[in-house]
Amino acid sequence: MKVFLIGFMGAGKTTFGKKLAKKLKCPFFDLDHLIEEITGSTVGEYFAAHGEVKFRELEKEILQTHPLPENFVLSTGGGAPCFHDNMDWMNENGQTIYLQLTPKALATRLENAKEDRPLIKGLTGDDLIKFISDRLETRDIYYKKAHFIVDGLNVHPEIIANLISKN
Ligand code: S3P
Repeated sequence: MKVFLIGFMGAGKTTFGKKLAKKLKCPFFDLDHLIEEITGSTVGEYFAAHGEVKFRELEKEILQTHPLPENFVLSTGGGAPCFHDNMDWMNENGQTIYLQLTPKALATRLENAKEDRPLIKGLTGDDLIKFISDRLETRDIYYKKAHFIVDGLNVHPEIIANLISKN
């Protein structure tokens, strides 16, 4: 079983992904961490040195070609489903789960977790909420292609594990 977790920055994909993988008894991977391992730099450093276009190319390349085991849970960076053909590719190659949260809830979570997130560095308060709302508006068409859309504030690994194993 291949499970792809998608959603905006701060949706809790990594935290939830680890719990879900434990429940499914399979390994957990994080796409940003794979990128960091392969490039030897943080996402923030990579953005600063090469820009977003190059980052998106690399992100696609690693998502679609990096060898992973038969069964896994992979959490993807917030932008990954919205570039190239990544969303369709994930839908064809596994089960996709969108952790959905409101801009306000995301902003609260992100307020203290912005250091290595180049897109929101320096944004606070209403500016941060506005940035998230605007981005979500353009990203939602991709996120909503997911096989499952779940409430990111109220999501339980055992329920999701049951849901996906029935498909
Ligand atoms: C991004 C989200 C980040 C990371 C990069 C770009 C985005 O991942 O891939 O900073 O475009 O939303 P997280 O969602 O894990 O923070």
